[in-house]
Amino acid sequence: MNTALLNASDKKNIAACADIIRRGGTVAFPTETVYGLGANGLSSPAVNSIFRAKGRPSDNPLILHISDLRDMYSLFLEVPDAALALAQRFWPGPLTIICRKAKHIPNEVTAGLDTVALRMPANIYARQLIAESGVPLAAPSANRSGKPSPTEAQHVFQDMNGRIDAILDGGKCTVGLESTVISLAGDVPTILRPGAVTKDQLSEVLGTVLTAKSILEPHDPNTPAASPGMKYKHYAPNAEVYAVTGTGDETGAKVTAAYDSFTQQGKKCVILGSSENAPLYGERSLITLGSRYEPSEFCASLFSALRLCDEYDIVLCETLPPEGIGLAYMNRLLRAAGFKRI
Ligand code: TXA
Ligand code: MG
Repeated sequence: MNTALLNASDKKNIAACADIIRRGGTVAFPTETVYGLGANGLSSPAVNSIFRAKGRPSDNPLILHISDLRDMYSLFLEVPDAALALAQRFWPGPLTIICRKAKHIPNEVTAGLDTVALRMPANIYARQLIAESGVPLAAPSANRSGKPSPTEAQHVFQDMNGRIDAILDGGKCTVGLESTVISLAGDVPTILRPGAVTKDQLSEVLGTVLTAKSILEPHDPNTPAASPGMKYKHYAPNAEVYAVTGTGDETGAKVTAAYDSFTQQGKKCVILGSSENAPLYGERSLITLGSRYEPSEFCASLFSALRLCDEYDIVLCETLPPEGIGLAYMNRLLRAAGFKRI
Protein backbone atom coordinates (compact mmCIF):
# COMPACT_ATOMS: atom_id res chain seq x y z
CA MET A 1 0.00 0.00 0.00
CA ASN A 2 1.23 3.47 -0.87
CA THR A 3 0.84 5.98 2.00
CA ALA A 4 0.17 9.55 0.81
CA LEU A 5 1.58 12.34 3.00
CA LEU A 6 -0.73 15.35 2.53
CA ASN A 7 -0.69 18.89 3.90
CA ALA A 8 -3.80 19.55 6.02
CA SER A 9 -3.92 23.28 5.26
CA ASP A 10 -4.92 22.50 1.64
CA LYS A 11 -8.70 21.96 1.52
CA LYS A 12 -8.33 19.61 -1.48
CA ASN A 13 -6.35 17.24 0.73
CA ILE A 14 -9.05 17.20 3.42
CA ALA A 15 -11.59 16.36 0.70
CA ALA A 16 -9.34 13.58 -0.66
CA CYS A 17 -8.94 12.08 2.84
CA ALA A 18 -12.70 12.28 3.50
CA ASP A 19 -13.14 10.38 0.25
CA ILE A 20 -10.70 7.67 1.43
CA ILE A 21 -12.68 7.35 4.70
CA ARG A 22 -16.02 7.05 2.89
CA ARG A 23 -14.55 4.27 0.74
CA GLY A 24 -13.46 2.31 3.82
CA GLY A 25 -9.80 3.37 3.98
CA THR A 26 -7.51 4.55 6.79
CA VAL A 27 -6.27 8.13 7.32
CA ALA A 28 -3.99 9.42 10.08
CA PHE A 29 -4.98 12.95 11.12
CA PRO A 30 -3.79 15.59 13.58
CA THR A 31 -5.62 16.35 16.81
CA GLU A 32 -4.57 18.70 19.62
CA THR A 33 -3.55 15.67 21.73
CA VAL A 34 -1.79 13.17 19.41
CA TYR A 35 -2.27 11.99 15.81
CA GLY A 36 -5.20 9.60 15.37
CA LEU A 37 -5.56 6.74 12.90
CA GLY A 38 -9.08 7.15 11.56
CA ALA A 39 -11.57 5.00 9.67
CA ASN A 40 -15.35 4.91 9.29
CA GLY A 41 -16.49 4.10 12.84
CA LEU A 42 -19.78 2.63 11.64
CA SER A 43 -18.16 0.04 9.35
CA SER A 44 -16.76 -3.18 10.81
CA PRO A 45 -14.32 -3.89 7.94
CA ALA A 46 -12.99 -0.30 8.07
CA VAL A 47 -12.49 -0.54 11.84
CA ASN A 48 -10.76 -3.92 11.45
CA SER A 49 -8.21 -2.33 9.14
CA ILE A 50 -7.21 0.03 11.99
CA PHE A 51 -6.46 -2.92 14.30
CA ARG A 52 -4.46 -4.59 11.51
CA ALA A 53 -2.39 -1.49 10.70
CA LYS A 54 -1.53 -0.88 14.37
CA GLY A 55 -1.06 -4.46 15.44
CA ARG A 56 -3.53 -3.62 18.22
CA PRO A 57 -5.15 -6.35 20.37
CA SER A 58 -8.82 -6.56 19.38
CA ASP A 59 -10.00 -6.43 23.01
CA ASN A 60 -8.93 -2.77 23.29
CA PRO A 61 -11.84 -0.49 22.27
CA LEU A 62 -11.57 2.66 20.15
CA ILE A 63 -12.78 6.25 20.60
CA LEU A 64 -15.34 7.61 18.11
CA HIS A 65 -14.48 11.17 17.05
CA ILE A 66 -17.32 13.55 16.18
CA SER A 67 -17.49 17.13 14.89
CA ASP A 68 -20.92 18.08 16.18
CA LEU A 69 -22.13 17.79 19.77
CA ARG A 70 -25.54 16.57 18.53
CA ASP A 71 -23.90 13.33 17.34
CA MET A 72 -23.86 12.29 21.01
CA TYR A 73 -27.60 11.68 20.74
CA SER A 74 -27.26 9.08 17.99
CA LEU A 75 -24.14 7.35 19.37
CA PHE A 76 -24.96 7.11 23.10
CA LEU A 77 -28.00 5.00 24.05
CA GLU A 78 -29.10 7.95 26.15
CA VAL A 79 -27.33 11.18 27.05
CA PRO A 80 -27.12 11.70 30.83
CA ASP A 81 -27.17 15.32 32.07
CA ALA A 82 -23.58 14.87 33.21
CA ALA A 83 -22.44 13.98 29.68
CA LEU A 84 -24.15 17.03 28.18
CA ALA A 85 -22.65 19.28 30.88
CA LEU A 86 -19.14 17.93 30.21
CA ALA A 87 -19.52 18.23 26.44
CA GLN A 88 -20.74 21.80 26.69
CA ARG A 89 -17.87 22.77 28.96
CA PHE A 90 -14.92 20.86 27.41
CA TRP A 91 -15.75 20.14 23.75
CA PRO A 92 -14.18 20.61 21.39
CA GLY A 93 -11.14 19.57 23.40
CA PRO A 94 -9.03 16.82 25.00
CA LEU A 95 -11.82 15.00 26.85
CA THR A 96 -13.28 11.57 25.99
CA ILE A 97 -16.65 10.65 27.51
CA ILE A 98 -17.82 7.05 27.98
CA CYS A 99 -21.53 6.14 28.26
CA ARG A 100 -23.74 3.24 27.19
CA LYS A 101 -23.60 2.73 23.45
CA ALA A 102 -26.28 2.96 20.79
CA LYS A 103 -27.17 -0.40 19.27
CA HIS A 104 -25.85 0.25 15.75
CA ILE A 105 -22.21 0.83 16.79
CA PRO A 106 -20.13 -2.13 15.56
CA ASN A 107 -18.75 -4.48 18.21
CA GLU A 108 -15.26 -3.99 16.77
CA VAL A 109 -15.29 -0.36 17.96
CA THR A 110 -16.23 -1.17 21.54
CA ALA A 111 -14.46 -4.54 21.76
CA GLY A 112 -17.80 -6.08 22.73
CA LEU A 113 -18.44 -3.69 25.68
CA ASP A 114 -21.88 -2.13 26.08
CA THR A 115 -20.29 1.33 26.39
CA VAL A 116 -18.68 3.63 23.82
CA ALA A 117 -16.11 6.44 24.08
CA LEU A 118 -16.77 9.76 22.27
CA ARG A 119 -14.61 12.83 21.73
CA MET A 120 -14.86 16.05 19.74
CA PRO A 121 -11.31 17.19 19.05
CA ALA A 122 -10.33 20.87 19.09
CA ASN A 123 -7.99 20.61 16.10
CA ILE A 124 -9.70 22.36 13.18
CA TYR A 125 -8.36 19.94 10.51
CA ALA A 126 -9.64 16.98 12.51
CA ARG A 127 -13.12 18.48 12.71
CA GLN A 128 -13.10 19.38 8.99
CA LEU A 129 -12.13 15.80 8.11
CA ILE A 130 -14.84 14.29 10.35
CA ALA A 131 -17.51 16.68 9.00
CA GLU A 132 -16.58 16.03 5.35
CA SER A 133 -16.44 12.28 5.90
CA GLY A 134 -20.01 12.39 7.19
CA VAL A 135 -19.39 9.57 9.69
CA PRO A 136 -17.84 9.35 13.17
CA LEU A 137 -14.16 8.44 12.91
CA ALA A 138 -12.99 5.52 15.02
CA ALA A 139 -9.40 6.49 15.85
CA PRO A 140 -6.77 5.24 18.26
CA SER A 141 -3.41 6.99 18.46
CA ALA A 142 -1.63 6.50 15.11
CA ASN A 143 1.43 4.65 16.46
CA ARG A 144 2.33 0.98 16.12
CA SER A 145 1.05 -0.75 19.25
CA GLY A 146 3.49 -0.32 22.16
CA LYS A 147 5.27 2.73 20.67
CA PRO A 148 4.90 6.28 22.00
CA SER A 149 1.88 8.07 20.51
CA PRO A 150 2.80 10.27 17.53
CA THR A 151 2.81 14.04 18.02
CA GLU A 152 4.07 14.90 14.51
CA ALA A 153 3.21 13.58 11.04
CA GLN A 154 6.80 12.28 10.71
CA HIS A 155 6.26 9.97 13.71
CA VAL A 156 3.19 8.51 12.01
CA PHE A 157 5.18 8.06 8.80
CA GLN A 158 7.94 6.17 10.68
CA ASP A 159 5.40 3.74 12.19
CA MET A 160 2.78 3.46 9.46
CA ASN A 161 4.31 4.05 6.03
CA GLY A 162 2.95 1.36 3.71
CA ARG A 163 0.28 0.26 6.22
CA ILE A 164 -2.35 3.03 5.83
CA ASP A 165 -3.80 5.04 2.94
CA ALA A 166 -2.87 8.59 3.94
CA ILE A 167 -1.40 10.90 6.58
CA LEU A 168 -2.82 14.40 6.93
CA ASP A 169 0.04 16.61 8.15
CA GLY A 170 -1.22 19.38 10.43
CA GLY A 171 2.06 20.12 12.23
CA LYS A 172 2.89 19.42 15.88
CA CYS A 173 0.21 18.49 18.41
CA THR A 174 -0.06 21.18 21.08
CA VAL A 175 -1.04 19.04 24.09
CA GLY A 176 1.16 16.05 23.26
CA LEU A 177 -0.55 13.47 25.53
CA GLU A 178 -3.81 11.65 24.81
CA SER A 179 -7.17 12.92 26.04
CA THR A 180 -8.58 12.54 29.53
CA VAL A 181 -10.96 9.55 29.49
CA ILE A 182 -13.91 9.72 31.90
CA SER A 183 -16.55 7.02 32.30
CA LEU A 184 -20.11 8.01 33.17
CA ALA A 185 -21.29 4.42 32.80
CA GLY A 186 -20.98 3.53 36.52
CA ASP A 187 -22.48 5.02 39.69
CA VAL A 188 -19.79 7.69 40.14
CA PRO A 189 -17.92 9.44 37.29
CA THR A 190 -14.47 7.86 37.06
CA ILE A 191 -11.32 9.03 35.30
CA LEU A 192 -9.85 6.03 33.46
CA ARG A 193 -6.96 7.94 31.89
CA PRO A 194 -5.68 11.37 33.00
CA GLY A 195 -5.07 14.08 30.39
CA ALA A 196 -5.08 17.83 29.90
CA VAL A 197 -8.60 18.19 31.30
CA THR A 198 -7.82 17.75 34.99
CA LYS A 199 -9.71 16.11 37.84
CA ASP A 200 -10.31 19.52 39.45
CA GLN A 201 -11.84 20.87 36.24
CA LEU A 202 -14.08 17.82 35.95
CA SER A 203 -15.13 18.10 39.61
CA GLU A 204 -16.20 21.71 39.03
CA VAL A 205 -18.84 20.37 36.64
CA LEU A 206 -19.68 17.00 38.20
CA GLY A 207 -18.92 17.18 41.92
CA THR A 208 -17.37 13.91 43.08
CA VAL A 209 -15.06 12.31 40.53
CA LEU A 210 -13.10 9.12 41.20
CA THR A 211 -9.75 8.13 39.69
CA ALA A 212 -9.13 4.58 38.49
CA LYS A 213 -6.61 2.76 40.67
CA SER A 214 -4.13 1.82 37.98
CA ILE A 215 -3.27 5.39 36.93
CA LEU A 216 -0.01 5.47 38.87
CA GLU A 217 0.50 1.75 39.47
CA PRO A 218 0.67 -1.35 37.30
CA HIS A 219 -2.61 -2.99 36.41
CA ASP A 220 -3.39 -5.89 38.75
CA PRO A 221 -3.81 -8.88 36.40
CA ASN A 222 -6.31 -10.47 38.83
CA THR A 223 -8.89 -7.68 38.43
CA PRO A 224 -10.71 -6.67 35.23
CA ALA A 225 -9.34 -3.47 33.67
CA ALA A 226 -11.80 -0.56 33.81
CA SER A 227 -10.21 0.56 30.57
CA PRO A 228 -8.64 -2.28 28.57
CA GLY A 229 -5.88 0.09 27.39
CA MET A 230 -4.43 0.09 30.93
CA LYS A 231 -3.45 -3.56 30.73
CA TYR A 232 -0.89 -3.05 28.02
CA LYS A 233 2.71 -1.88 28.16
CA HIS A 234 2.87 1.48 26.49
CA TYR A 235 4.91 4.31 25.13
CA ALA A 236 8.19 2.45 25.44
CA PRO A 237 11.36 3.09 23.44
CA ASN A 238 13.86 0.27 23.02
CA ALA A 239 15.94 1.71 25.87
CA GLU A 240 15.35 1.06 29.58
CA VAL A 241 13.53 4.06 31.06
CA TYR A 242 13.75 5.20 34.71
CA ALA A 243 11.51 7.81 36.37
CA VAL A 244 13.78 9.79 38.71
CA THR A 245 11.71 11.03 41.66
CA GLY A 246 12.18 14.14 43.78
CA THR A 247 11.95 17.85 43.15
CA GLY A 248 14.28 20.46 41.73
CA ASP A 249 17.94 20.21 42.72
CA GLU A 250 17.37 16.91 44.49
CA THR A 251 16.28 15.25 41.22
CA GLY A 252 19.17 16.82 39.36
CA ALA A 253 21.67 15.29 41.81
CA LYS A 254 19.98 11.86 41.61
CA VAL A 255 19.97 11.97 37.81
CA THR A 256 23.65 12.82 37.53
CA ALA A 257 24.64 10.12 40.07
CA ALA A 258 22.63 7.47 38.18
CA TYR A 259 23.95 8.68 34.82
CA ASP A 260 27.57 8.42 35.94
CA SER A 261 27.08 5.01 37.52
CA PHE A 262 25.35 3.53 34.43
CA THR A 263 28.02 5.09 32.20
CA GLN A 264 30.76 3.37 34.26
CA GLN A 265 28.96 0.07 33.58
CA GLY A 266 29.41 0.79 29.87
CA LYS A 267 25.81 1.84 29.22
CA LYS A 268 24.91 4.67 26.86
CA CYS A 269 22.71 7.12 28.81
CA VAL A 270 20.48 10.06 28.02
CA ILE A 271 18.63 12.45 30.33
CA LEU A 272 15.12 13.79 29.67
CA GLY A 273 15.18 16.83 31.91
CA SER A 274 14.17 20.38 32.69
CA SER A 275 15.77 23.55 31.35
CA GLU A 276 16.31 24.57 35.01
CA ASN A 277 18.51 21.53 35.67
CA ALA A 278 20.37 21.69 32.35
CA PRO A 279 23.43 23.56 33.75
CA LEU A 280 23.79 20.83 36.40
CA TYR A 281 23.94 18.09 33.74
CA GLY A 282 26.93 19.74 32.04
CA GLU A 283 28.28 17.68 29.11
CA ARG A 284 25.99 14.68 29.69
CA SER A 285 23.52 13.78 26.86
CA LEU A 286 20.32 15.73 27.47
CA ILE A 287 16.97 16.16 25.73
CA THR A 288 15.20 19.15 27.28
CA LEU A 289 11.50 18.69 28.01
CA GLY A 290 10.91 22.34 28.94
CA SER A 291 10.52 24.17 32.24
CA ARG A 292 9.63 22.03 35.25
CA TYR A 293 7.41 24.90 36.39
CA GLU A 294 5.34 24.59 33.18
CA PRO A 295 4.04 20.99 33.32
CA SER A 296 2.29 21.43 29.96
CA GLU A 297 5.76 21.83 28.36
CA PHE A 298 6.87 18.46 29.79
CA CYS A 299 3.62 16.90 28.48
CA ALA A 300 4.05 18.36 24.99
CA SER A 301 7.64 17.05 24.71
CA LEU A 302 7.54 13.62 26.40
CA PHE A 303 6.48 11.38 23.50
CA SER A 304 8.65 13.02 20.85
CA ALA A 305 11.60 12.84 23.28
CA LEU A 306 11.01 9.11 23.94
CA ARG A 307 11.10 8.55 20.17
CA LEU A 308 14.66 9.91 20.12
CA CYS A 309 15.85 7.40 22.74
CA ASP A 310 16.08 4.18 20.72
CA GLU A 311 19.85 4.52 20.25
CA TYR A 312 20.45 4.64 24.03
CA ASP A 313 20.57 1.87 26.66
CA ILE A 314 19.31 3.95 29.58
CA VAL A 315 16.89 6.90 29.76
CA LEU A 316 16.78 8.92 33.00
CA CYS A 317 13.67 11.07 33.08
CA GLU A 318 12.70 13.83 35.50
CA THR A 319 9.31 13.53 37.21
CA LEU A 320 6.60 16.06 38.11
CA PRO A 321 4.26 16.24 41.11
CA PRO A 322 1.27 14.03 40.10
CA GLU A 323 -1.22 16.90 40.28
CA GLY A 324 -3.22 18.72 37.63
CA ILE A 325 -1.79 17.93 34.21
CA GLY A 326 1.29 16.51 35.98
CA LEU A 327 -0.83 13.41 36.72
CA ALA A 328 -1.16 12.72 32.98
CA TYR A 329 2.60 13.16 32.53
CA MET A 330 3.41 10.76 35.39
CA ASN A 331 0.86 8.19 34.12
CA ARG A 332 2.57 8.03 30.69
CA LEU A 333 6.12 8.23 32.06
CA LEU A 334 5.59 5.42 34.59
CA ARG A 335 4.16 3.19 31.85
CA ALA A 336 7.10 3.93 29.58
CA ALA A 337 9.38 3.11 32.52
CA GLY A 338 7.55 -0.13 33.34
CA PHE A 339 7.11 1.56 36.77
CA LYS A 340 10.88 1.60 37.45
CA ARG A 341 11.67 4.52 39.75
CA ILE A 342 14.97 5.81 41.13
O1 TXA B 1 -6.36 11.91 22.62
C1 TXA B 1 -6.83 10.81 22.33
O2 TXA B 1 -7.70 10.27 23.04
C2 TXA B 1 -6.31 10.11 21.07
C3 TXA B 1 -6.71 10.98 19.87
C4 TXA B 1 -6.39 10.33 18.56
O3 TXA B 1 -8.07 11.30 19.97
N1 TXA B 1 -6.82 8.78 20.96
C5 TXA B 1 -6.38 7.77 21.76
O4 TXA B 1 -6.95 6.53 21.45
O5 TXA B 1 -5.56 7.92 22.62
P1 TXA B 1 -6.39 5.17 22.05
O6 TXA B 1 -7.19 4.12 21.35
O7 TXA B 1 -4.93 5.12 21.89
O8 TXA B 1 -6.82 5.18 23.54
C6 TXA B 1 -8.18 5.03 23.90
C7 TXA B 1 -8.30 4.56 25.33
C8 TXA B 1 -7.79 3.15 25.50
O9 TXA B 1 -7.11 3.07 26.75
C9 TXA B 1 -9.09 2.33 25.54
O10 TXA B 1 -8.95 1.14 26.29
C10 TXA B 1 -10.04 3.30 26.22
O11 TXA B 1 -9.68 4.58 25.73
N2 TXA B 1 -11.45 3.05 25.84
C11 TXA B 1 -12.06 3.24 24.65
N3 TXA B 1 -13.35 2.88 24.70
C12 TXA B 1 -13.58 2.45 25.96
C13 TXA B 1 -14.74 1.93 26.64
N4 TXA B 1 -15.91 1.78 26.03
N5 TXA B 1 -14.59 1.60 27.95
C14 TXA B 1 -13.40 1.75 28.59
N6 TXA B 1 -12.29 2.24 27.99
C15 TXA B 1 -12.37 2.58 26.70
MG1 MG C 1 -2.85 4.73 22.12
